[in-house]
Amino acid sequence: MNASTIVIVGAGQAGALAAAELRQQGYAGRVVLIGEEAHAPYERPPLSKDVLLQPQTARCAIHGETFYTERNIALRLGAAVTALDAQARTVTLDSGESIAFDSLLLATGARVRRLPVLDALGGLGESVHTLRTLDDAQRLVPVLQPGKRVLLVGAGVIGLELASSAVELGAQVAVIEQAPRAMARCAPPVLTEALCDLHRARGVALHLSSPLAAAARENGEIVLTLEDGTRVAGDAVIYGIGVVPETALAEAAGLRVDNGIVIDAQCHTSCAHIYAAGDAASQWDEASGRHQRRETWENANRQAQTAARAMLGLAPEAEQAHEADWFWTDQCGLNIQFAGDMAAPEWLARGSLAAPPCVLFGLDGEGALVGAITVNQGRDMRSAKALIVKRARIARETLADPAQNLRNLAREFA
Ligand code: APR
Repeated sequence: MNASTIVIVGAGQAGALAAAELRQQGYAGRVVLIGEEAHAPYERPPLSKDVLLQPQTARCAIHGETFYTERNIALRLGAAVTALDAQARTVTLDSGESIAFDSLLLATGARVRRLPVLDALGGLGESVHTLRTLDDAQRLVPVLQPGKRVLLVGAGVIGLELASSAVELGAQVAVIEQAPRAMARCAPPVLTEALCDLHRARGVALHLSSPLAAAARENGEIVLTLEDGTRVAGDAVIYGIGVVPETALAEAAGLRVDNGIVIDAQCHTSCAHIYAAGDAASQWDEASGRHQRRETWENANRQAQTAARAMLGLAPEAEQAHEADWFWTDQCGLNIQFAGDMAAPEWLARGSLAAPPCVLFGLDGEGALVGAITVNQGRDMRSAKALIVKRARIARETLADPAQNLRNLAREFA
């Protein structure tokens, strides 16, 4: 094992965590972590928040400066992998260098979905922006200034977090969303409606059900025309309309790809010795009986750990398969955490969304707990997750009663 090499393509959350886990598990071979960006691996969640709000002091590095050298992880930054030969077990860098591997982890992540009507305004980086990388965030700092009129296209997680940060920075904000509601991909109507009310109360002009018909530069400003003819003018536009998994290398190498690099529960791809993790991967999910691609920080960490263990031939961590999916957003001064099934047909509130803290419980058709959302009440999340895993059936009055300690309820079902 000592003479072997594990190459990790992609130095984001999944890649960096997998490299760390390999060493944590005692792997003594060569670890090469290859990243296209010039920055050492960093966390993405702060990019739409702290990095914009406190650009001088915000820290987002995943590990300390000496972490990689101390663990003998060869961090190759500013290096793009341009080819993968699955049979010969080599990757080729844009410099022409070829690196042989025994096992490979593809942690290539995702890239922003592009919107040609906006890109046609003159390319990204001037007054048209997206937000995915640290460089993107740094380019937004001068854009989000007091008095600047900022047009946000897409009211997903990125759009709404940016709306919140932009308002805090004194900008005037309009959000344009083609769907009838915000954050529809990942949150239920009861939550997103309350959230939209908050954004409106902070001065955000929210245009829902408003597909873009045209975009133009007119007299030094950007004018977006909505399908109903409404014209919205601003100094800059930032769009966040979702991401697409980065699968080009895998596809070219003949790996199975279907909305992500297809992997099993242990992160094996369709090709022996090649694994995948993070936003780029679509993993078999026993509970739902289908493959799922999850774009969350937690999923990147979890799959990184699973993949690293699998690459070393170690047994998977027993409890991993039973965790409820979890993610969070921070906006309008609220910390909102989500676990489990956000498509639950019924939502029950403990406390009021109009006056957080508050917890929402998602129930399925039979009244079992399948999802939970905490609003400024993160301390209940662990218990909520435990109850979701058990699909607990709890009387509605009990769930809705703030006097009923969730931790005690979780103990009852343990
Ligand atoms: N015009 C306006 N809105 C659009 C358009 C369009 N042409 N196309 C898509 N949208 C909207 C969608 O309806 C949705 O509300 O953009 C929003 C995209 O939301 P997300 O899928 O949440 O994607 P985004 O906000 O870009 O976040 C990207 O970063 O923070 C992470 O978890 C997040 O993985 C996600 C990623």
